[in-house]
Amino acid sequence: MAGKAANVVDYRALAKARLPHFLFEYLDGGSYDEVTLRRNVEDLQSVALRQRVLRDVSQIDLSTELLGKRWAMPVGLGPVGLSGLYARRGEVQAARAAAAAGVPMVLSTVSACSLREVAASGHVPWYQLYFVKDRGFVADLIARAKEQGCGALFVTVDLAVPGSRYRDTRAVGGRLRRAFELAARPSWLWDVGMRGRPISLGNLEPIVGQRAPLGDFQKWIHDNFDASVTWKDVEWVREQWKGPLIIKGILDPNDACEAVANGSDGLVVSNHGGRQLDGALSSARALPSIVEAVGGKISVLADGGVRSGLDVVRMLALGADFVLLGRAWAYALAARGQAGVAHALKLIDAEMRVAMALTGCTNIEQIDDGLIDRR
Ligand SMILES: Cc1cc2nc3c(=O)[nH]c(=O)nc-3n(C[C@H](O)[C@H](O)[C@H](O)COP(=O)(O)O)c2cc1C
Repeated sequence: MAGKAANVVDYRALAKARLPHFLFEYLDGGSYDEVTLRRNVEDLQSVALRQRVLRDVSQIDLSTELLGKRWAMPVGLGPVGLSGLYARRGEVQAARAAAAAGVPMVLSTVSACSLREVAASGHVPWYQLYFVKDRGFVADLIARAKEQGCGALFVTVDLAVPGSRYRDTRAVGGRLRRAFELAARPSWLWDVGMRGRPISLGNLEPIVGQRAPLGDFQKWIHDNFDASVTWKDVEWVREQWKGPLIIKGILDPNDACEAVANGSDGLVVSNHGGRQLDGALSSARALPSIVEAVGGKISVLADGGVRSGLDVVRMLALGADFVLLGRAWAYALAARGQAGVAHALKLIDAEMRVAMALTGCTNIEQIDDGLIDRR
């Protein structure tokens, strides 16, 4: 694809052309046959909205409140691991774009830039926590989030073990192949590989050192993440973290009820972008029953397959209070850095306005189940 990106899908093509093959495969791929990855996109796209007319939609307000703050729109940048490698010091660039657009960003535990580096840019992100086996180190991560003044802690619970991603396995090659792949992407090599060093996992440097275990990241996760985590460990996090706590990776109404019972402030309906249990329900299909189970007691966020502002409106109509982007912002970051993320957010904003105008909504509160056309 040459020229200007008209939508997020164009950014995917630009990202593919700019990233070394193994990094694009890591970003783009899902587990096993990628059934859930596809379902996320297709099920969301198949939600038909009710076209309404003649309802004065000249003024549209996208602003929304979540976790005690007003945001420009009900959209945030979800945690995407290694995103600092898609563009030079990528998470810092993304945090700047999110702040300028008035939306939140959630920084992954496995980001390239550390929380401290991102916060030093003047934009303190929300923080996403994975449980590594060393519990003392997890306590340290929580303490650092507190120290930096993060406004929310997202505990990701759908990665007890890493899902098998065939595209990652196929993309891992020897040094020679890696060298060819890098040589084929000179602009990335210069921007990120040379000027973007260190290539590390900033938050995990105390346990992995200054070199990201890129050769076999899945194996590293398998060896270091803690598969024994239960709701008791969430309680343990709760004791140390008094701010907003969000459980990310809920797909089942019973688990949603547990999240409510365990004192979380919100949950994210998510299947990790189809990267974990392949064949699991899409987020769009799982969302309504979870909203019903939660019954308005805590905030319900959702992600998975969102590629446009129209998709955001569909997620809201299915019951979400707020929507997280995953690949959508990461493709844009890979393609054009901060400017790409800023542009992707502008596109989402504009697409939301059109979808709202043509469904007769002028503010976010008006978007509900009644917008879905089930004929
Ligand atoms: C490359 C990649 C890395 C991800 N890394 C994380 C992560 O570190 N922590 C996390 O909670 N979720 C992670 N996710 C899941 C996203 O937060 C989100 O749930 C998912 O991307 C949504 O699906 P979508 O990309 O199709 O919109 C990752 C997703 C991708 C694509």
